[in-house]
Amino acid sequence: MSGERTTTVLVGVTGGIAAYKSCELVRALMKRGYRVKVVMTDAATRFVTPLTFRTLTNEPVAASLWEDDPSAPVHHISLAEEADVFVIAPCTANVIAKIAQGRADDLLTTAALATEAPIVMAPAMNVHMWRDEATQENVDRLRDRGVVFVEPESGELACGDVGEGRLAPVEAIAEAVMAEAERAQDLAGRHILVTAGGTQEPIDPVRYIGNRSSGKTGFAIADEAARRGARVTLVTGPTHLADPFGVEVVRVQTALQMHAAVMERAEDVDAVVASAAVADFRPAEVARGKIKKTAAPEAIALVRNPDILAELGARQERPVLVGFAAETSDVESNARHKLEAKRCDLVVANDVSDPALGFGTDANRVAFVTRDGVEWLPMLSKRVIAREIADRLARLLGGADVE
Ligand code: CTP
Repeated sequence: MSGERTTTVLVGVTGGIAAYKSCELVRALMKRGYRVKVVMTDAATRFVTPLTFRTLTNEPVAASLWEDDPSAPVHHISLAEEADVFVIAPCTANVIAKIAQGRADDLLTTAALATEAPIVMAPAMNVHMWRDEATQENVDRLRDRGVVFVEPESGELACGDVGEGRLAPVEAIAEAVMAEAERAQDLAGRHILVTAGGTQEPIDPVRYIGNRSSGKTGFAIADEAARRGARVTLVTGPTHLADPFGVEVVRVQTALQMHAAVMERAEDVDAVVASAAVADFRPAEVARGKIKKTAAPEAIALVRNPDILAELGARQERPVLVGFAAETSDVESNARHKLEAKRCDLVVANDVSDPALGFGTDANRVAFVTRDGVEWLPMLSKRVIAREIADRLARLLGGADVE
């Protein structure tokens, strides 16, 4: 993404009485210099006409999947691709539910499913609808997937009820959009190398020593960094995960192969995020043929593998380094020790003694350990943890280096 291009914000308007406030939101975004395009649900067009938005934005307004007007090139995929940020305000309970389920039965929900851009939702609805368990579950699910919510406010609602459900102030929504637009570029011009997954250390042609790392966190970080404009190289041990979009993926099996793949590229990178669970030891000898049970060895001699992160930390010109510490006790002090021993800028620590957390799960509770202190995060999805790590990484790299 070049610095020259105007950032495009796609504003989704759904059918609620607060739809009239979307006009103010459009103006607030245009005042900030964004190009604004509007997509409406059918219900929204009953509250505000597409002509209003067309006049405000000077752009065609998208409302139907079936529009066939050649002067209004509003195809759902092109809309999704054009958007740098997609903000849905007001967002009804129904649209939240549809997007949470991945339904795409109109232009707005289709664009939400198709876009790679960050999504901001500003819900507005009756207080009981907002508090309903179904709505709250849908909100949680979307939050886990990275959707940013601008929470509704408390006050008198259009239906006469009093409580939460009123659309957040337009300025607060515009600020959230701005934060996402900045985030979407804050790693531009950077080259980030991520290690992920566990390594496998062969014993013979069919057996290996391995660990329970799924690679999910590393893949999520690589994906997040690429979305935010970085050039990303992902060096991963064997996993079942698909290559993240726009990321160079180098698949390896052993610690020695991972070490070689990282060192080959280390000169060229601004930061290394070492999320891989690298085996500390490998069998001293790998049997050429399958070891038969009649000839089982009494013991397998092991030798140390090189420590990739420590080796990078020992370099004179080292990239920004983020290490991981999976601990079963004394999480903070062990992580701090790793921070110092491997000369990292940040260590992401977690407690793997709880089987519900860590390896293979979709959520985790981590602490960020730096020279300045420790910060525990709440329980978050790996996707959201990846976003938090990328936020810290952008700060450590000192802002975007956009040419
Ligand atoms: N790491 C690495 N190369 C290794 C081993 C670990 O790059 N050969 C990195 C991991 O990717 C992770 C961090 O170092 O970022 C984890 O530290 P590590 O020393 O593996 O922790 P433990 O092995 O658990 O150390 P200890 O057994 O002393 O707790």
